[in-house]
Amino acid sequence: MGHRLGRVLITQEEIAERVRELGKAVARDYAGRDPLLVGVLKGAVVFLADLIRTTDIPATLDFIGVSSYGASTRASGVVKITFDLSVTIEDRHVLIVEDIIDSGRTINYLRRNLQTRHPRSLRLCALLDKAERREEEVPIDYLGFSIPNHFVVGYGLDFAGLYRNLPYIAVLENGPTG
Ligand code: IMP
Ligand code: MG
Repeated sequence: MGHRLGRVLITQEEIAERVRELGKAVARDYAGRDPLLVGVLKGAVVFLADLIRTTDIPATLDFIGVSSYGASTRASGVVKITFDLSVTIEDRHVLIVEDIIDSGRTINYLRRNLQTRHPRSLRLCALLDKAERREEEVPIDYLGFSIPNHFVVGYGLDFAGLYRNLPYIAVLENGPTG
């Protein structure tokens, strides 16, 4: 059965309000520092773009790309870096910005990888949390929304590369289980 766009889970207005709150919290916590915000490609691009415009701190940006494991590598938790940072993060205050935490494998791999580069601090800001599906514990420092176990698209999140441009977050009916 083909997939199709289902109900809106989080509206454009709800996202905007929550992103403003997150931006305020980030700006307050990083006041007097110059954090490096690292967006995880490609899903976090829309969120990151909105988030930085709600803060008034001298934040700089960089990006990192990670591969989603296939079904066969899932159990091993193997994740690959497909696009690396363009700057060194040694001694920097790094804030990872991610779209969604599902099993937690991707973000934990990324954390471990970035930690080996000796940042001064390393925190995580995630727009969405599907806690029901967690397989590894993940400390989320800034969280937008906890959501139930549905596959969602929009506001940067995709299915097969599509739907990233939706201004809201919707459930994908007959989509992957997550
Ligand atoms: P994890 O390693 O299982 O936590 O997977 C996280 C990654 O899977 C995210 O960065 C997303 O790219 C993708 N993902 C997980 N759930 C969804 C979803 O509901 N919609 C779109 N992408 C998702
Ligand atoms: Mg992602």
